[in-house]
Amino acid sequence: MAGIIFEGVSKSYGKVEVVKGIDFEVKNKEFMVLVGPSGCGKSTLLRMVAGLEEISSGKLYIGNTLVNDIPPKDRDIAIVFQNYALYPHMTAYQNLAFGLKIRRFDKKEIQERVLEAAKILDIEALLDRKPKAMSGGQRQRVAIGRAIVRHPKVFLFDEPLSNLDAKLRGQMRIEIAKLHQKLQTTVVYVTHDQVEAMTLGHRIAVMNKGSIQQLDTPDRLYAHPRTLFVAGFIGTPPMNLIAGRAGEENGSLFFQGDGQTFKAKINSRPELRSYLDKEIVLGIRPEAIHLRKQTDKENYAVLNCKIQFVERLGHESFAFFLLQDKQLVARLKPEEPIRPGEEVDLFFEVDKMHFFDKVTEEVINPAPPPAPAT
Ligand SMILES: Nc1ncnc2c1ncn2[C@@H]1O[C@H](COP(=O)(O)OP(=O)(O)OP(=O)(O)O)[C@@H](O)[C@H]1O
Ligand SMILES: [Mg+2]
Repeated sequence: MAGIIFEGVSKSYGKVEVVKGIDFEVKNKEFMVLVGPSGCGKSTLLRMVAGLEEISSGKLYIGNTLVNDIPPKDRDIAIVFQNYALYPHMTAYQNLAFGLKIRRFDKKEIQERVLEAAKILDIEALLDRKPKAMSGGQRQRVAIGRAIVRHPKVFLFDEPLSNLDAKLRGQMRIEIAKLHQKLQTTVVYVTHDQVEAMTLGHRIAVMNKGSIQQLDTPDRLYAHPRTLFVAGFIGTPPMNLIAGRAGEENGSLFFQGDGQTFKAKINSRPELRSYLDKEIVLGIRPEAIHLRKQTDKENYAVLNCKIQFVERLGHESFAFFLLQDKQLVARLKPEEPIRPGEEVDLFFEVDKMHFFDKVTEEVINPAPPPAPAT
């Protein structure tokens, strides 16, 4: 068992720095997810932990050991990739046993470990089958099994589910969460699927362009995004973002959307006083925009608009509307009888608004700032 510490870890290919001085700690037994768009450096970071990629600068510790110069085979780490690459001519049993065999484990130990992993993954009935006689999900289980038999200190996963169809992905997600509960091992899990990230991670590191934008629990990432990037990345559909300015009129504070489109009184947000006439961005989640006033809330900004189209998902509906030429979305109760083309008043909850500095792209923090996640 071991945690992982990154101290100013960077990676460059030639002159291009693809991982930029990353500092963070994965705690012992923690399930840490790295999420971010394609090319942001997730796999590179993971491969540095595995020792498959050299570190350009900085220090990397696994447990208490500085591993910069320790070869992959001596790091006591197992990695599961998207392309699980089982040996096609071997049965599931032989695939599971192979890694132990080349490490010269004795036969009895190998058998014990293989059967134990097969039991954990519920693939005992498949042990005599070759990969071509297994489904994608079953093959991926065997691939995970190959990692489990090694009893590693740390598990690394690089998009292990992206080759599976949506339903199977959902099932395997639960399997992986259960697996972690059972094994209680440190996990670093890379994905670009934010649902996977939100459901699996104890904490999530949101990466963009080689840096960690925010490292936080799923709840706090959703409720307190620290940058515009995180605000737009976490959440489906994503947070609505409206560019504009803060202003003051007769002592009253307001937000004015660019192009005079939208005006909201924001007296309950005094942190914006220091942003008067500066460019800011208002962020509001679809569930904070309502078709009628909630009785327990009094602080709303109202927007009269025309509904463009409505997506009905059964348990909820999404109503899309335009603010100038920008498409925004409200999450509504499924029973709302709203129709495309209808003109309605939408109520924006002022207390649920997020504000970002347009230049630095960082959140304008209400006082007191939320405590960091532990
Ligand atoms: N061997 C290499 N030589 C040069 N550049 C590389 C090399 N490997 C990766 N890169 C670049 O490093 C950056 C990060 O790549 P990485 O594979 O870590 O991204 P990722 O976040 O895993 O993306 P994806 O979600 O698409 O898998 C990319 O811009 C990529 O083109
Ligand atoms: Mg990758």
